[in-house]
Amino acid sequence: MSQQNWNASEYIKHASFVPTMANDVVGLLNPQEGEEILDVGCGDGELTRLLQEKGCSVIGIDSSPSMIEMAKTRGITAYVIDGHNIAYQNRFDAVFSNAALHWLTQPEKVVKGAYLALKENGRFVAEFGGEGNIAALLRAMQEVFEENTEFGQFHMPWFFPSVEEYQGLLEQAGFHVKYIKLIARPTPLKSGIEKWLEIFAEGITSHLSQEQKTTFLRSVKGKLLSVLYTEQNGWVADYVRLRFEATKP
Ligand code: BEZ
Repeated sequence: MSQQNWNASEYIKHASFVPTMANDVVGLLNPQEGEEILDVGCGDGELTRLLQEKGCSVIGIDSSPSMIEMAKTRGITAYVIDGHNIAYQNRFDAVFSNAALHWLTQPEKVVKGAYLALKENGRFVAEFGGEGNIAALLRAMQEVFEENTEFGQFHMPWFFPSVEEYQGLLEQAGFHVKYIKLIARPTPLKSGIEKWLEIFAEGITSHLSQEQKTTFLRSVKGKLLSVLYTEQNGWVADYVRLRFEATKP
């Protein structure tokens, strides 16, 4: 299985678009003063802090020690806990997650953990990569692996479910699904496609030599130039979000 290592300062420098595009899912969460919220995959804690500023009492969890260190410097109560291993019981008014659930490839565990962590009538609100997310990017990465057999086999490190699949998972765990939708959201990459690949596809290329990584970056970029780049808009990634709200009866 590929291993993703996060570097919080690189992430903040080049991927700050992630929390800034979260207005809609935060709107869906509609956090209320005094609520207790669990932020799953809180990353560097930028959104967690926003929820805290709205008067919520928030705990952030993330599997990356580097991200959790950064979140703590922002005054967040945060722990290194993988989202597959949520172990809270009947504690939170809401479980929230932005741009993280696609990294958690055993979704049954995540959904069950979220369900158990919620109080009765609590809500699970999240947004992450859904069916069709980064389709062009994925195709290009896979093709480059196929064309360079010495790279080994391409392993998909993400989970991009359809509405039906995720709704089924939520309902199986006992949730009532109030809202669930796939939303195309082309996302400008201000730092360019190579930086995106370096940060987010690190788990895919971590076993390659430096020379192979250079070939990978150059070849993927070459394949995507006519697909995701225009002079007017620069690089724009083909993001598709799955956004949902589910309640614990
Ligand atoms: C996403 O937010 O959709 C995403 C980010 C990094 C890698 C794959 C998907």
